[in-house]
Amino acid sequence: MIKFSNKELFERASAVIPGGVNSPVRSFRSVGGTPVFITRGAGSKIYTSDGRELIDFCMSWGALLFGHADPDIVGAVLKAAVDGTGFGAATEREVLFAEKLCSMIPYVDQVRCVSSGTEAVMTAIRLARGATGRDKILKFDGCYHGHSDSMLVSAGSGLLTGGLSSSAGVPAAVANDTLVAPYNDIEAVREIMAAQGGSVAAIIVEPVAANMGLVLPSPGFLEALRALTQQSGALLIFDEVITGFRFGPTTYGALCGIEPDLTCLGKIIGGGLPLAALGGRRKIMEQLAPLGPVYQAGTLSGNPLAVAAGLAALEKMAQENIFPNLGTFGKKVSSPWEKRVQEKGGAFTFFFCDGLPRNLAEAKQCDTKQYAAFFHGMLERGIYLPPAQFETAFISAAHTDGDIAALTAAAADVLA
Ligand SMILES: Cc1ncc(COP(=O)(O)O)c(C=O)c1O
Repeated sequence: MIKFSNKELFERASAVIPGGVNSPVRSFRSVGGTPVFITRGAGSKIYTSDGRELIDFCMSWGALLFGHADPDIVGAVLKAAVDGTGFGAATEREVLFAEKLCSMIPYVDQVRCVSSGTEAVMTAIRLARGATGRDKILKFDGCYHGHSDSMLVSAGSGLLTGGLSSSAGVPAAVANDTLVAPYNDIEAVREIMAAQGGSVAAIIVEPVAANMGLVLPSPGFLEALRALTQQSGALLIFDEVITGFRFGPTTYGALCGIEPDLTCLGKIIGGGLPLAALGGRRKIMEQLAPLGPVYQAGTLSGNPLAVAAGLAALEKMAQENIFPNLGTFGKKVSSPWEKRVQEKGGAFTFFFCDGLPRNLAEAKQCDTKQYAAFFHGMLERGIYLPPAQFETAFISAAHTDGDIAALTAAAADVLA
């Protein structure tokens, strides 16, 4: 039943919400056109206010490992809601969630729950600064770590100078404390650490980068980051907001045998609700308030509905081994277009450039106009992809062989 068209809703939204959206990439600015307004989701499908059924390969930006409205997750949320939607006080549910999360990551003794990936990263950075007594943070161009001030920074004029604010409102002094290196460029990191290692509190990295499209770490890159941080007394932060529980029932760090000092989690661990977390060894985590000097707090942190959803998702993935199937589906998507599609474990990006990028500079050579045409061609054929070239698409456990066949058939048609 069509109540309001996407166009009507977007006009109304634009009157009362800046740009008509509550998060910029939803606005379709980089692909053009009117965003779809979603009325409901079920499994791999979303239904729009225009009355269309689409196969969703965005999956709430990777959060929905089990698809839309998974009955176990919805059931857990409903049960929790009946008991009260929030207390701003300690609950048993958050203990169960934290115990489960810690049990699934070998090097995480403690977690602090927050409500978004941005908050998890912001806290990790403050904790790294508090624990080391140093101010500078090294990040990689093209990695996204949420919208806190010190992370909205891109490469400046040289490796050894601070970065440039990538948003108005970020003070230059804050940007100056963020150093920026190209992803996968360990020589650049070596150079920075040789010159400034003594003032670097942490290196933060997406262990598999998913915010310039999907970009895999080069062999030895993450190991070298671990060694360089250890040598200089800086902490290593893995931002696993996307990669955590995406490739197996644990973190990417645990899967590849590299232990970071701090891990940021979000998306999948919340089963689609606003939940994220920061975790690490007890010694460092106990630097957080109320035990330690690093302050952090949140009214909605560990919200009972969110931790109920998160716990249901974690329990489900511990019971059902969905990960090999996600990998198989991902391979089916990428194999016809190996030079054009980067894929890992059911996460993938169609790139419109020569070869698969290894860093932001290469990703930026992609033809975003071609991606936009591809995106709209796919949408016309009932396939919903992320509405921007520099994003990653996701397959969930709710997708079927038929969904993957529909995707590859549509892509063959559009690319032809
Ligand atoms: C790797 C990574 N870190 C942090 C964030 C920020 O998370 P949130 O949008 O929940 O604030 C994102 C969001 O996409 C992300 O991809």
